[in-house]
Amino acid sequence: MQTTMELEKIYQPISEDLASMEEVLHKRLTSSKYESVKAISSYPLQSGGKRLRPALVLLSARVIGDSSRQKQKAINIAAAMELIHMASLIHDDVIDHSKLRHAKPTVNSKRGEDVAIALGDYLHATASELIATCSNPEVLECISLAVKTMCEGELLQVCERDNLNLKLERYMVIIKKKTATLFATACQSGGLIFGAKENLQKTLKDYGFNFGLAFQMVDDCLDFVGKKKSLGKSPGTDFKLGELTIPILSLISEDKEAQKVQSLMESPDKDNSFDELRDIFINSEAFTKTKKEIFFYLNKAKESISDLSDSCFKESLTDLTDYVAKRIEI
Ligand code: IPE
Ligand code: IPE
Ligand code: MG
Ligand code: MG
Repeated sequence: MQTTMELEKIYQPISEDLASMEEVLHKRLTSSKYESVKAISSYPLQSGGKRLRPALVLLSARVIGDSSRQKQKAINIAAAMELIHMASLIHDDVIDHSKLRHAKPTVNSKRGEDVAIALGDYLHATASELIATCSNPEVLECISLAVKTMCEGELLQVCERDNLNLKLERYMVIIKKKTATLFATACQSGGLIFGAKENLQKTLKDYGFNFGLAFQMVDDCLDFVGKKKSLGKSPGTDFKLGELTIPILSLISEDKEAQKVQSLMESPDKDNSFDELRDIFINSEAFTKTKKEIFFYLNKAKESISDLSDSCFKESLTDLTDYVAKRIEI
């Protein structure tokens, strides 16, 4: 697993459970008796990732209490959430024609789209198997709904490509569906397994939802202002695909830049269109406003959990919001 030192520190209170989660992932992704399947199903393990969703499952469970009887279930759900996320990235890289992820070739560029599609399905099915081990219909229901919502969000985003009139409201719907809901569900399902009552489930869900909105907005800003080396993926992808995200939408809403931005958007394939747009965004009032919007959702996430009793797990949830805020400080 590749995490930054900062994340390792935040994950410290759940480090043993995260290590067990990693073992579950490893075991499930190397279980095929066919060497060819094993070689490709273990590929996502070699490239790491931040493991935010499993960490949120485990922190949300522990913030509710300490149930050694339910511990393995929480670990299995944490692994299932990561598998669902990995599958969504593998399919997303096909949809986005991306060549680089975690500083390595994507499955589609390494082995072709056919293998990537089949692998994403295999990971989804493996996640379902793990969810089934929990025999908890409420957990099954909320994760199934989250996966459906995530797929709907991804589909909506593809259908809205090249819509140069996309409104901020529609963008918010897309990111709520494709990203925030899975984060909300990671938190809710962790709580559910450790017996959280409805009001606490809502608290955790609200935290995850607002965290997820901010997280996707940061990711979309980094697609503009981030560097290939630190992102491990190629910036400019959204723009080249005709996907309007928060940087462009907020630039358009600034009268000063609207016309220039519109004309650059009409020629996304021109070599310097993206570079020009990025320079405009970095120095714009739109970027400042976007950061404020991101901090607003991160604060909302923090406030959602303010009534929970103090613990190292609650502290980690708070620190995670600061971690996301720092990603956008350039
Ligand atoms: C990437 O998610 C996709 C988005 C929802 C923005 P992560 O940044 O959490 O993916 P990892 O850390 O590479 O797995
Ligand atoms: C990731 O979306 C897929 C989902 C959230 C389902 P993006 O296309 O925005 O993420 P990156 O930038 O490729 O990681
Ligand atoms: Mg993508
Ligand atoms: Mg995408």
